[in-house]
Formats: sequence, structure tokens, C-alpha cells
Amino acid sequence: MNILLLGAGGREHALAWKLAQSRHTDKVFIAPGNAGTETAGVNVPIAATDFDALRHFVLTNGIGMVVVGPEDPLVAGIYDFFKADDALRAIPVIGPSKKGAQLEGSKDFAKAFMMRHNIPTARYLSVTKANLSEGIAFLKHLTAPYVLKADGLAAGKGVLIINDLAEALRELEAMLDGSFGKASETVVLEEFLSGIECSVFVLTDGASYKILPVAKDYKRIGEGDTGLNTGGMGAVSPVAFADAVFMKKVEERIVIPTVEGLKSENIDYKGFIFLGLINVQGEPLVIEYNCRLGDPETEVVLPRIQSDLVDLLQGVAQGNLAEKVLTIDPQTVATVMLVSGGYPGDYTKGVPLTLPASTDSIIFHAGTTRKDNQLVTNGGRVVAVSSFGSTLQEALNQSFNVANLIEFRGKYYRKDIGFDLWK
Ligand code: AMP
Ligand code: GLY
Repeated sequence: MNILLLGAGGREHALAWKLAQSRHTDKVFIAPGNAGTETAGVNVPIAATDFDALRHFVLTNGIGMVVVGPEDPLVAGIYDFFKADDALRAIPVIGPSKKGAQLEGSKDFAKAFMMRHNIPTARYLSVTKANLSEGIAFLKHLTAPYVLKADGLAAGKGVLIINDLAEALRELEAMLDGSFGKASETVVLEEFLSGIECSVFVLTDGASYKILPVAKDYKRIGEGDTGLNTGGMGAVSPVAFADAVFMKKVEERIVIPTVEGLKSENIDYKGFIFLGLINVQGEPLVIEYNCRLGDPETEVVLPRIQSDLVDLLQGVAQGNLAEKVLTIDPQTVATVMLVSGGYPGDYTKGVPLTLPASTDSIIFHAGTTRKDNQLVTNGGRVVAVSSFGSTLQEALNQSFNVANLIEFRGKYYRKDIGFDLWK
């Protein structure tokens, strides 16, 4: 089978790498891909949201399955676009319908969904200009810090955590006045939860599910989790605190009600559900849903999956996921993200990049391209170095050693990934 994968980051390189290993795969095409995905398949210069161009490509290249990496095409309704088209309908899209993607596309939708299905999450109130006074009263009644979230997609920047009440009240009004454009016409106010976070990915065919290996990502640019938020500076899997007792609670209180809730509301969902969880004194609560895999979590989760990924995805498409077996490597995998100098602020692209000729690690490309046959940087996050180890320290040391050998002007990476899990 030929597979079309949408996206261009480290997550997509890891997906392309894993899809290419399947016995079911003839060719993997990646739209638009990066310099790394080219080693696992064929890049196609089409944007992941250009549905008409994707339609033409799918029909002229015998594509048997479309795997969607990022959220944008899902929130824009690529699943429904295929279902509504006579020529495309039979080609499975791995990812939820537009309605299902609202779990990520609208925080208000996600919170209301959790309330309807009794899924543990922070107390909240959704506020628009119409109920601003109620919003002000809700904030005043919470204790600091205050959590304000733009309802819609805001490129990962739509969450503000503010210590001072007066400032939180000012920000609330600014958000409703459009500080995040349409995304903040509705603002979700939340109670602040204190705990340690992890990411759990669930693969579902709409009826049954598989829980993939748990990961933890490191979002801040600075060591010790300080400084600005980024797309993610590294990740590890497994996560020591997400033990069998914790995961049983996650499955019973969150995974099952989520999958059943989607089903009972007739929301088509055949793809990945990302649970952003927080462990509050041993109890899991949902911080957020995403409708896709995480990046860089994918760069540690997929290497630990020993099963054939296409076989699992066919189970999703055909509705017989329950019959498939998910086998997980017990080893630890750690990934360290190398980023451009200045990221997540301004940075330069097109900087020449040198990778070691051979290594025991897997180097997943995030923001790279080829210019005049030279590998160059093409984004803030440049490459992720994933390594196996029998312990977390071993996996991390291996990644740090390889990160040290990779060269490009302005290279930066956090040398403390996993710091809060070291024992
Ligand atoms: P989100 O974009 O929803 O993932 O939020 C970004 C980050 O803000 C999360 O990863 C958390 O670290 C933090 N956060 C979001 N909601 C809360 C909350 N209710 N309590 C504490 N931290 C939160
Ligand atoms: N690493 C978090 C995300 O992909 O949203």
C-alpha cells in the first residue's frame, strides 16, 4: 500500500520512519515533509491544508491511506472532506472528523465534553463579552495563579498563567477584545492545578482503543523548566510516576469515558487522542486534549512500539483494532531537541548543518531542508536525537553525546531533559 503522511516536523519524520518499516507499506509520501522524511519516503511539495491538491495527489498516486500528523488539517475538516467525496470516500484518513477535532480546536468544547462525561479536569467557566461579569466574579472567587485560555487554536500560545488578580482581569478583557484574534472571543477560565504532567496517546477506531507508551515532554526553553514556552525541547518514555496504579485510573476515568463519550455523541473519531494529563497527588486530571500525536513525544513513543504501525492503523480504518496486538519495548527512550539560536523568539533559517556519519541514536529531523545539496536548518526546532537505554540516564547520556556531535551555528539544547524524573 502507498501511504500519504501529512506534516513536516519531527513527529512526521518519526511517523514516516515507522510507517516505512511496515510489511504493508510500498511507498510513503510526505506532504510537505523535511530533509529527514526524504530518507523514509518521497516528499511532495503540497501544504497539509491544501485539500484540493492533496485530493489530486491521492487519486493519481494510488494512495491507500492518509495519516495526518498536525492538527490544522483535522480542525479544518480533512476527514469530512474525504468522506464527502465519492472518489475519496474509500480511502481511510487516520484522524478524527472535524467535530472530533474540536477536542483540540475548542477548549470550551473540550471542557463541556468532559463535564458531560464526568471526566476529571480543572473547574472552569467559559466567558464571552456576554457574560463578562460572571467571568470577573469567577476569577475573583479563585485563588492565584489564574489560568486563562483562548478557546481556539493559538499556535500553542493561547494559555496564560497569571499570579496577580488585577492583571488577570485586564488580560481577560484584552483577550475578549481580540488579543488572540477570533481564538479568544471565548476564554476558558480555569482553576490552577498543581502537579506533574505527562502525555498519554490513545489510538482508537471509535469503539476500542490502545493506550500507547506514556511520555513526558519538556516545554520551556530554559533548564529547570524556566523561560518561554516552546513546541517542546525533549521527551522521555516511560514516565516513572505513571505506574500501573496511575494508568488504571487514567484508563477507567479518562480513556474509557472519552472513547465512549465520542461514540455516544456520534462523533466520528478514528485516530489518535492526545491526553495532556496532570498528576495531582496520585489522581489524574485532564489539562487538555489534542487530536493528534505530540511532538517531541512521538520521537520517544514510536521507537518503543514494536508492533507494525500500519497493521494497527488498518485496525483503526477497518474497525477491528481490538484484534490487533500492541507490543511495547520495555527499554527507555529519551529525545533531546536541538534548536536554532534565538528560538522561540527570532532565529535564522538556512544555517548549514552537519550530522555524525553514523550513530546508535535515531536523528529525527524537525526543521531541516536541502539547499544546493547542503543540509540546512529550516525552523526553530531543528533535529531531535532519540536514544534507547536500559535506564533513563543511559538513554539521555547517549542523546547528549550525539547532540554534542551535531554542528550548526547557534545550536542550543537543554542538558537537563528528564531532570525531574531522575532518581
Ligand atoms: P495547554 O495549551 O492547554 O496545554 O496549556 C499549556 C500549559 O499550561 C499546560 O501544559 C500546563 O503546563 C499549563 N496549564 C494549563 N492548564 C492548567 C491548569 N488548569 N492548571 C495548571 N497548569 C495548567
Ligand atoms: N509536545 C506537546 C504537543 O505536541 O502539543
